[in-house]
Amino acid sequence: MGESLVCVKDFERHAFSVLPRNALDYYRSGAGAEQTLAHNRQAFSKFKIRPRCLRNVAIRDPSTTVLGEKVEIPIGISPTAMQRMAHPEGECANARAAQAMGTIFILSTIATSSIEEVAEAAPYGTKWFQLYIYNDREVTRKLVERAERAGFKALVLTVDTPMFGLRLADIRNKFVLPPHLKFANFAGDKATGINTTESGSGLNNYVNRLFDQSLEWKDIKWLQSFTKLPIVVKGILTAEDAIIAADLGVAAILVSNHGARQIDGTPASIEALPEIVQAVGDRVEIYLDGGVTDGTDVFKALALGAKMVFLGRPALWGLAHSGEEGVKKILNILKTELDYALAITGCATIKDIEPRMVVPEGYYSRL
Ligand SMILES: Cc1cc2nc3c(=O)[nH]c(=O)nc-3n(C[C@H](O)[C@H](O)[C@H](O)COP(=O)(O)O)c2cc1C
Repeated sequence: MGESLVCVKDFERHAFSVLPRNALDYYRSGAGAEQTLAHNRQAFSKFKIRPRCLRNVAIRDPSTTVLGEKVEIPIGISPTAMQRMAHPEGECANARAAQAMGTIFILSTIATSSIEEVAEAAPYGTKWFQLYIYNDREVTRKLVERAERAGFKALVLTVDTPMFGLRLADIRNKFVLPPHLKFANFAGDKATGINTTESGSGLNNYVNRLFDQSLEWKDIKWLQSFTKLPIVVKGILTAEDAIIAADLGVAAILVSNHGARQIDGTPASIEALPEIVQAVGDRVEIYLDGGVTDGTDVFKALALGAKMVFLGRPALWGLAHSGEEGVKKILNILKTELDYALAITGCATIKDIEPRMVVPEGYYSRL
């Protein structure tokens, strides 16, 4: 069965056929009319690869270094909430797959497995913790302390989310988390406040009630005042914000439009990448997520200046297929596709990828 699924699109199709409506719509949706959702993928085709020839690619190595640590492939797992709707082992299975593949797993604040459960499931893998900041700042402080204690290596502060975007299917479905699941990092209302809704998306109601909408850049200093972990800022789409973040001393920027789930009409993340690389690429590491579904997407992002890319939905499709094994299959598919891209463009290692190997399509119409 698994062997007939040979690309991310195949796993997506499979997930669409097996996931319950409530969960599938939550995972799949983008904000509003979902123009950016489609564009996140299509925009990769606006960049063209200029392969180089005869450069001895007999021995190839796709590993790289991120925040000082070696990763076997430049493809990690982005934080996505509530993964136990896709598979009973949810985040634990996803983290184990990342560990097995020698890459990074980012755990969401609003996960259905706790920080400690994930640390125990994948003790040797590199794990980062994604932060949403609650009105009650003590909540955030405690999460950070727990992540540090459990051996997480970085904090990924999501900055594009004063509110959750309007995802129409979730409003129609009155999305709530099934009663056997909860937000596992919390107790009381913060854990189970997502299990009911009076009207509209239960998730939006939860977030509007509990997340801090007054966050400002200075709050990064607050975070830095009590943690030594490197901070990755996730959700930046402009050079302006990238410069502010770099000036504040963050370690890295994850260029992202949140999988097109926040506001429809933003550029695809691959379109936003070049201006951010140009603005701060010499000061902080830069990563990208959004619409990555093929090894050539990874190659293009790396050529445009990203050190690493991350996958959101593709890992969920892998989970829905067969838990840890399914996510490994997804990562292996992308690894193989990247290996082909490296070989056929004349790159034995990631360092051999040159900026001029990927150009916007306008490059050719000018000729
Ligand atoms: C179902 C789902 C849940 C998500 N939950 C979170 C989250 O809890 N925290 C966060 O920072 N980003 C979250 N994101 C955004 C992802 O981290 C990532 O930016 C996005 O999925 C990348 O796009 P892709 O799905 O096309 O790979 C979520 C995305 C999806 C699809």
